[in-house]
Amino acid sequence: MSTYGTLFRVTTFGESHCASVGAIIDGCPPGLELSADDIQVQLNRRRPGQSDLTTPRNEKDAVQLQSGLERGVTLGTPIALLVRNEDQRPHDYSETDLFPRPSHADYTYLEKYGVKASSGGGRSSARETIGRVAAGAIAEKYLRIAHGVEIVAFVSSVGKVHLPTTAVAVDADGDDDDAPEPLSPDFRALLANVSREEVDKQLTRCPHPETAERMKQRIMRAKSASDSIGGTVTCIVRRLPPGLGEPVFDKLEALLAHAMLSIPATKGFEIGSGFRGTEVSGSAHNDAFVRRRDGSLGTATNWSGGIQGGISNGEDVYFRVAFKPPATISQAQTTVQYDGTPGTLAARGRHDPCVVPRAVPIVEAMAAIVLMDALLMQKARQAAASLLPPITTLPPTMVLPPKVNVVARRVNGDDVDV
Ligand SMILES: Cc1cc2nc3c(=O)[nH]c(=O)nc-3n(C[C@H](O)[C@H](O)[C@H](O)COP(=O)(O)O)c2cc1C
Repeated sequence: MSTYGTLFRVTTFGESHCASVGAIIDGCPPGLELSADDIQVQLNRRRPGQSDLTTPRNEKDAVQLQSGLERGVTLGTPIALLVRNEDQRPHDYSETDLFPRPSHADYTYLEKYGVKASSGGGRSSARETIGRVAAGAIAEKYLRIAHGVEIVAFVSSVGKVHLPTTAVAVDADGDDDDAPEPLSPDFRALLANVSREEVDKQLTRCPHPETAERMKQRIMRAKSASDSIGGTVTCIVRRLPPGLGEPVFDKLEALLAHAMLSIPATKGFEIGSGFRGTEVSGSAHNDAFVRRRDGSLGTATNWSGGIQGGISNGEDVYFRVAFKPPATISQAQTTVQYDGTPGTLAARGRHDPCVVPRAVPIVEAMAAIVLMDALLMQKARQAAASLLPPITTLPPTMVLPPKVNVVARRVNGDDVDV
């Protein structure tokens, strides 16, 4: 369906070549100062035509706030956001009247609904993600003001060009006894410090200049061969409060996976050490607890990716999303028409040779929407519990101990309380 969320509910609307796309957001707290600029900054990072590496479709993607706020303050009522489609060229797609594009959504949409948009990807087009990015910018602003939450995504691979620090060295003897850590110290340092400003210095949105240049060459090679290429986006969330996530079916990582895999062209999701974590032993992988300055518990390492038992633990949340090579390529492909007649499709139209540079703000937006909804759920639970008298009848092992402030000491560059 087109609605996501329980308390922070986002409904997106629109197709690739209709009059407008956008979102209706229900459940945004009242009293949030909000302007179109707060939203436009992320829409600009998503919009097409940013460079030679993206589709040349020329859209300004200027957002119009239709409802839900007055004098720049949210009213707690539904917020409607709208972006007009301006650079439609439906005739570019006339050959896809005959051919379902291989690995696109033309065939499945027609099978499912029995009718489909006459041109472009219709509802399956990445134009739909405008509503997500706009809604995500609102969620992100609230999370930042309320808890200082910071969300940064970046491109971590294009084809076989990876950020050098993401690769795992394999033991020569195939034994995992001396297996390396799932992620290198360099990559962890990048996760801890990377900013959107650094990410945006590169057209590819990979914050490692040398790798970014190689990624650019790889995308240009795909483009000049009338082909396309895939890649991955990594996302880090800092200062997320503990306690978010709704076990068991709505564990926080399950919600993030759901949200990420709802983005068009996604093929994989991993959190924390991910699949690489399977290559090390438990003793190397366990995140030992430490006591922090405020008396709460933290972890010395963070292979869990900030989530344990489906609940955030207060450490950074980080995950990686895989995107396939976009399906629409102008290289001739042998395929069949809707009626089964064999033929050759060389798709026209304007398309991304690689989606990951533009996917970065979409990943950030979906993370913000998930975390906003999870935060509102936890706040509702805590508010309801706070109306009850304090618990005095249970043994101390059953209730959260009072926090004791302790002296901080630096361990591995971090403030850790001992
Ligand atoms: C930012 C972004 C841009 C995209 N641009 C294109 C494109 O230009 N051409 C294309 O065929 N697919 C593009 N896609 C992917 C399609 O929307 C997607 O592959 C298609 O809807 C089929 O869905 P699926 O890949 O999730 O199965 C893009 C996806 C994203 C996230």
